[in-house]
Amino acid sequence: MIRIGVLASGTGTNLQAIIDACARGDIPGRVVVVVSNNPKAKALERARRAGIPAVAMHHRAFPDRDTFDGKLAEILHSYEVDLVCLAGFMRILGPWFINQFAGRIMNIHPALLPSFGGLGMYGDRVHKAVLDSGVKFSGCTIHFANEAPDGGPIILQAIVPVRDDDTVETLASRIAQEEHRLYPEAVRLFAEGRLHVVGRRVHIAEAREPMSIVE
Ligand code: GAR
Repeated sequence: MIRIGVLASGTGTNLQAIIDACARGDIPGRVVVVVSNNPKAKALERARRAGIPAVAMHHRAFPDRDTFDGKLAEILHSYEVDLVCLAGFMRILGPWFINQFAGRIMNIHPALLPSFGGLGMYGDRVHKAVLDSGVKFSGCTIHFANEAPDGGPIILQAIVPVRDDDTVETLASRIAQEEHRLYPEAVRLFAEGRLHVVGRRVHIAEAREPMSIVE
């Protein structure tokens, strides 16, 4: 059973999808702590409702990014997390933090990276840029975090069509449905030890057959 720490700044629907997948037994793990930089985040309420420790740490209460990152790492280490899931976490994490949990931080992005990602590309801004560009498909990406925003090796992607009459809201909601399926799936693969980073690529090992006993 892996111990998962989730960082979220907003509604927390992806957090909820991970909590639910753990409760169903789809993920061999459990969410042991949720941290938000936004004390009003609905994600914190979702955590409390599920009996998970919920920590609010407003970034403005810290003199600089390094101090914020240091406190965040301290909390996650104190809960002995094996995996850190960024689920709509709207703060850039510095290289020191990334190194603390090297290869053990996942992020979700609401588009098909490496397009429509990077600094300033989050939430509805991403969907607006997608609609403005005229692309016919969008989707979501789960990737390992590295020092570049939205830049780490890609684990899973899902594709959705962009329809002629789409608005930011309709596109966001079609993508959200895929996000809620895809993030728990990526966490499950990690928990099963099936993700292997080879350069820029993430190889996914086949599931092992359960051992059968031959008489
Ligand atoms: C999700 O759509 C996620 O992909 C996006 O924020 C939303 C959070 O929703 N993340 C980014 O844009 C990161 N660049 P949620 O709080 O309901 O899970």
